[in-house]
Amino acid sequence: MSEPPKIFVIVGETGSGKSTLLKLILRMLIPDGGTILYKGRDIFKLNREGVRWYRREVQAVFQDPYESFNPIRRVDTYLYDTAKFLLNIGKSIEAIPIIDEVLRFVGLDLERIKGKSIKEFSGGELQRVSIARAILSRPRLLVADEPVSMLDASLRVSVLNTFKEIRDKLGSSIIYVTHDLSTAYYIGDEIAVLYRGVLVEKGPMDVVYSEPLHPYTKMLLDSILEPDIRIKERIKPVKLSSIEISEFLAPGCKFANRCPYVKPICSSKEPPSIDIDRRTVSCWLYIK
Ligand SMILES: Nc1ncnc2c1ncn2[C@@H]1O[C@H](COP(=O)(O)OP(=O)(O)OP(=O)(O)O)[C@@H](O)[C@H]1O
Ligand code: SF4
Ligand SMILES: [Mg+2]
Repeated sequence: MSEPPKIFVIVGETGSGKSTLLKLILRMLIPDGGTILYKGRDIFKLNREGVRWYRREVQAVFQDPYESFNPIRRVDTYLYDTAKFLLNIGKSIEAIPIIDEVLRFVGLDLERIKGKSIKEFSGGELQRVSIARAILSRPRLLVADEPVSMLDASLRVSVLNTFKEIRDKLGSSIIYVTHDLSTAYYIGDEIAVLYRGVLVEKGPMDVVYSEPLHPYTKMLLDSILEPDIRIKERIKPVKLSSIEISEFLAPGCKFANRCPYVKPICSSKEPPSIDIDRRTVSCWLYIK
């Protein structure tokens, strides 16, 4: 029996490589090394038809809905174009019921958005249109990069609930990226904690959240009391210092510079991942 669809949250502070990981999954970046397999196929070796298949299977919602649409085009044209490209629909008229259905799924309808450009939408409405476009092909996997961080606090929960409905009613799994642990806890079934490009701890949400093992996960959970300040800081893109960038290539544990439990081996040798207490963790503290 196949596993039920899940929401898999990736958390990490700004500059941890969350968006980079999603861009790799979306084939927007080519990795320097390694491969990404989806249903056993290397996503960087797909032919034209393979790329179209992959786009139907894996769709995305980004952080800033205003950047997802060209201001001089009507927003509904994006839905028609996606329906034609991914669903092999020839005429716009045939796409109408399909587009209306996905819009209704996210709490809108075609009549409401017809002929409008982005400046006629609120941020929340526009993000809902992005989500509707992303579910047009009934993707098996939806990746979402901080999709509520630019919305008013009052709208966030309803958009988060839409993602849960996508999991429950459409059966899509979701990789949901956020720097905010409260959001992560609300939405996630599983959590993976990313630090400088490395997944340092991953497992079921309740397990990791109630008893984090990795020192970086512990530190992140301690900072949960100030989510609003962190959201405001997050919206501005942060430029990493050259020291922080060099940490991605550090030979040992990437967290060694900041870790209160650092041991001599930590800076020279990367800790292996081990399964312990129902999660996977990469830290020398747990290697016997
Ligand atoms: N695995 C990696 N190796 C080397 N550099 C990386 C890696 N992943 C990300 N980077 C670099 O680190 C910087 C920050 O990455 P990215 O934008 O993905 O972080 P983020 O977690 O999405 O941050 P934010 O929370 O601000 O959106 C980028 O300059 C990116 O090129
Ligand atoms: S491997 Fe060492 S430096 Fe890294 S988190 Fe564990 S104890 Fe800290
Ligand atoms: Mg990012």
